[in-house]
Amino acid sequence: MTDNLLTASPAFRLLQAHHATMGQARLRDLFAAAPDRFAQFSTRAAGLLLDFSKNRLDQTTLDLLLALARERHVETHRNAMFAGEKINRTEQRAVLHTALRAPRSAHMQLDGQDISADVHAVLAQMQGFCERVRSGSWLGRDGRAITDIVNIGIGGSYLGPKMVCQALRTHAHPRLTSHFVSNVDGHDLAAVLGRLDPATTLFIVASKTFTTIETMMNAHSARSWFLQTGSEAELAKHFVAVSTNDAAVREFGIDPDNMFPFWDWVGGRYSIWSAIGLSVAVAIGFDGFTEFLDGAHQMDVHFQTAPLEQNMPVLLAMIGVWYRNFFDSSSVSIAPYHQDLSLFAGYLQQLDMESNGKSVTTAGEAVSVETGPVIWGDTGTNGQHAYFQLLHQGTHLIPIDFIAALQADHSLPGHHAVLLANCFAQSEAFMRGKTADEVRADLQAQGLAGDALEALVPHKVFAGNRPSNTILMERLTPAALGALIALYEHKVFVQGVIWDVNSFDQWGVELGKVLATHIHRELVGDSTPATHDSSTNALIALAKAARLP
Ligand code: F6P
Repeated sequence: MTDNLLTASPAFRLLQAHHATMGQARLRDLFAAAPDRFAQFSTRAAGLLLDFSKNRLDQTTLDLLLALARERHVETHRNAMFAGEKINRTEQRAVLHTALRAPRSAHMQLDGQDISADVHAVLAQMQGFCERVRSGSWLGRDGRAITDIVNIGIGGSYLGPKMVCQALRTHAHPRLTSHFVSNVDGHDLAAVLGRLDPATTLFIVASKTFTTIETMMNAHSARSWFLQTGSEAELAKHFVAVSTNDAAVREFGIDPDNMFPFWDWVGGRYSIWSAIGLSVAVAIGFDGFTEFLDGAHQMDVHFQTAPLEQNMPVLLAMIGVWYRNFFDSSSVSIAPYHQDLSLFAGYLQQLDMESNGKSVTTAGEAVSVETGPVIWGDTGTNGQHAYFQLLHQGTHLIPIDFIAALQADHSLPGHHAVLLANCFAQSEAFMRGKTADEVRADLQAQGLAGDALEALVPHKVFAGNRPSNTILMERLTPAALGALIALYEHKVFVQGVIWDVNSFDQWGVELGKVLATHIHRELVGDSTPATHDSSTNALIALAKAARLP
């Protein structure tokens, strides 16, 4: 099916017609008219609750959105992904990150082969490694136990491990400190190395390809740093690798016994479930990592089996399509009311924007509707004191996903009730807004009257009708986090099917990489070829004049 058929599809056209009326509806009226709106528009799966009642939709909207999902054959595409079909056609690859979190008995297939055995063999290797590092029996070069783990990687080989370690920091091993280095900017690595003792530091070089310039440069610099005080023979105690590229890992000099493999059917931004999650497993323990995988698997089972009407990823995706394609809303704000999820929006940026930031269909034709939105956000309540002003009273329509846990993992009295009160108050305020009459009544109660009162009224009006989802979990456990990430993975998948884009390639990151290679040669070489535009030539000349080391 091509994208052109999307705008021509019956459900899409019916949604356009429906939007002409529904687009005017007011959420506060919808709530007033249906006291059971929450029950009607909420669903539970894998330990999560999705409340989507504060969205600008009614039952007809939902029926039409699900009709669109059926017209686009979401279920068939979903089954093809789980069956190991090569749905990433531009790279001729299957998309089987779900196999990484399936039980051994699932016997997930690729090209007629059971890949579950390979997956569980690597998990067993990870388990052995975790237990040695955590127990202190993996010894550094002078016989002391490891105290610091440095994950060197970028993109999916960094964002997932760092976000998950941060999210589950209350579960972390007390002796081990996790560090993450990603940027080729030497300030990143230098700042981390400056705090470390090489004799008790273990580097995990995490790179699917083992060719990514940032990771390779950081890994080589870390190796040189280690060799300032240690020997080549001692490297095996301090460097391990996670990669699909066995040959490159050997060439780097990492002991093949210390390599944790994964496979080309795991996309970089979907790789946290693979050995790329090694730093997570070391930090929280292998049992915790297994719970994390299982939480995601529970969401996979739900996605595969729940009717579309209760299917959480499908609902989240189709609500997103509603705003993107019918309200022309170009971004989604992520608001976790949990400080340990402070990196979650950044993680979702790669997951969503690298997946669906596309403008051609799977057939290579120009898309005829808008595709993936801009994803951004920060934790609540911090965001309230920064950009929420624009969300409340600005001119953009930006749907928000609120995420919260009912229970805290700290024992400070009072904080959690204030946090949750703010979370719920915000979604209510976005939904209800505040009318001019309500503002007037408030101002009169404060003793204002006449022109002074009327001058203030427009500034204090909130249009409201601003949509949000709320995702609640009991507490931020490894299983709940696994389910949450899998929820968004499948949301992105469903939206990719609706828009008919390949959610699993990322050609858009290539051009800059190629040009950087050329410019790097010019920066460190003698010549100053005027092969670029005048701006780029001038910038290169200035950098050359700075005599870079
Ligand atoms: O940014 C492009 C990308 O290929 C991502 O998709 C990937 O997560 C990242 O680079 C890192 O790649 P690698 O794990 O191969 O070093």
